Amino acid sequence: MSKHRNRHAGLAAKVMSAEEAAALIDNGATIGMSGFTGSGYPKAVPMALAERIEAEHSAGRPFKVKVWTGASTGPELDGALARADGIEFRLPYNSDPIARERINRGQMQYFDLHLSQVAPMAWMGFLGKLDTAVIEISGITEDGKLIPSSSVGNNKTWLEQADKIILELNHWQSEALDGMHDIYYGTALPPNRVPIPLVKPDDRIGQTRFDVDPDKVVAVVETDTPDRNAPFSPPDAVAEAIAGHILDFLGNEVKQGRLPRGLLPLQSGVGNVPNAVMAGLIDAPFDQMTAFTEVIQDGMLDMIEAGKLHMASATAFSLSPEKAAYFNDNAQFFRDKLILRPQEISNHPELVRRLGCIAMNGLIEADIYGNVNSTHVMGSRIQNGIGGSGDFARNGYVSIFMTPSTAKGGKISAIVPMAAHVDHIAQDVQVIVTEQGLADLRGLSPKQRARAIIETCAHPAYRDGLRAYFERAQRDSYGNHAPNVLSEALSWHRRFVETGTMKE
Ligand code: COA
Repeated sequence: MSKHRNRHAGLAAKVMSAEEAAALIDNGATIGMSGFTGSGYPKAVPMALAERIEAEHSAGRPFKVKVWTGASTGPELDGALARADGIEFRLPYNSDPIARERINRGQMQYFDLHLSQVAPMAWMGFLGKLDTAVIEISGITEDGKLIPSSSVGNNKTWLEQADKIILELNHWQSEALDGMHDIYYGTALPPNRVPIPLVKPDDRIGQTRFDVDPDKVVAVVETDTPDRNAPFSPPDAVAEAIAGHILDFLGNEVKQGRLPRGLLPLQSGVGNVPNAVMAGLIDAPFDQMTAFTEVIQDGMLDMIEAGKLHMASATAFSLSPEKAAYFNDNAQFFRDKLILRPQEISNHPELVRRLGCIAMNGLIEADIYGNVNSTHVMGSRIQNGIGGSGDFARNGYVSIFMTPSTAKGGKISAIVPMAAHVDHIAQDVQVIVTEQGLADLRGLSPKQRARAIIETCAHPAYRDGLRAYFERAQRDSYGNHAPNVLSEALSWHRRFVETGTMKE
């Protein structure tokens, strides 16, 4: 490997193999790993650790670790460690299918929490002690500063809190990332907290590189491996319809004078539908837009190139493989238009509220009163986790939730009498949109919300059932403010579990 990426003499002397580094991790250790939505996660040490764990298990010796990350990672981390049955406890957001299965079988403890709260909670001591940090970086300077890679996540906190540090220096990451990050070192715990001095999405309030105590670094492992990068699927008709409703809504908000012409900073979840929204924004009559969000997606790079998006602030990239390669080839063009920050800043409630973000997130189901379930299928099976949706939904200028009106080939209605789990209470949900239409719930009472959601968002195959439930509830409910028939409220879920469909 070339020497120019590791320019610190002391840390150059600590280069070793992934297997040697993994051997430095103890059974039972709590490990803070880098990684956020498939970018910037360590790729070699977790794989070597998984192999070591499998060998220990074959020899009849127990070996498990607790894993903290920024958010979801990749198959080489969550997938490999979960397959080896090596994770005892995991936080804060997971989308790996193998880990998800283990969690849902009750074989792995999992705690999903608001992504802005992970670092503060670690500092408050609520999560216990951090033993080891395993952090991917893209370079080390002469004076021992670390150049971050394609995600920042909780890396600053893990580097500060861990007793020992393993660095993965990934040569695949573009060298042009240097200078793109903004690592804020001004956070403190109550009663010493002060306002975060950021008033515009493009304000820089920190430094471009991480500080690290070189004495705590026990290993530097060199890699040359791409980020996981989910493939991009072009928007289907449902995603395009949802995006169309959102674009009409935003256009009308501008017309009514409730949003400026360049909108307000956009926050967008990942996936098919948000990408369709981004694609639609390229042709929409809004200019000089900004994004203050969690992840930078394909659509945002397109918007920057089209001159529609002035800049984007996030904590990580979440690009398709083609777009990641394109970014690496054109990083010089993008580097002054993108800022990557720690997730406690990218998602900070104070900043989301101050900037007035337009929050756009996916949901699993919403009930007729507008309570939203983003996490638990049938009230008990974790899908991914709450991620940053709560950080943005509660504090945004306007909070939009979107979903296809049905799931699993029409066997599940995304609009149900009562949500079987609630992540976002009705007060944090101002707009619900499906391909059927968009319900603007701002200022509506529960019964007004129910009518709007049923008539606008529900799929026609389920609309009559919802109307009938709502009518019965208004006759038979204990109270008539947000009427529900308790014996029936979760019957749609029960029917699905028992028969495989919510349909009667
Ligand atoms: N019941 C059962 N399963 C459902 C469902 C429902 N009501 N709604 C969706 N699903 C399933 C889908 O069938 C799909 O399953 P599959 O992977 O087995 O095919 C899966 O959930 C994902 O749904 P999809 O329609 O592809 O939407 P998505 O990729 O946009 O994901 C969430 C939707 C809610 C799971 C996703 O947005 C999420 O994890 N949100 C929470 C975190 C978040 O909002 N992060 C962004 C903040 S910055």
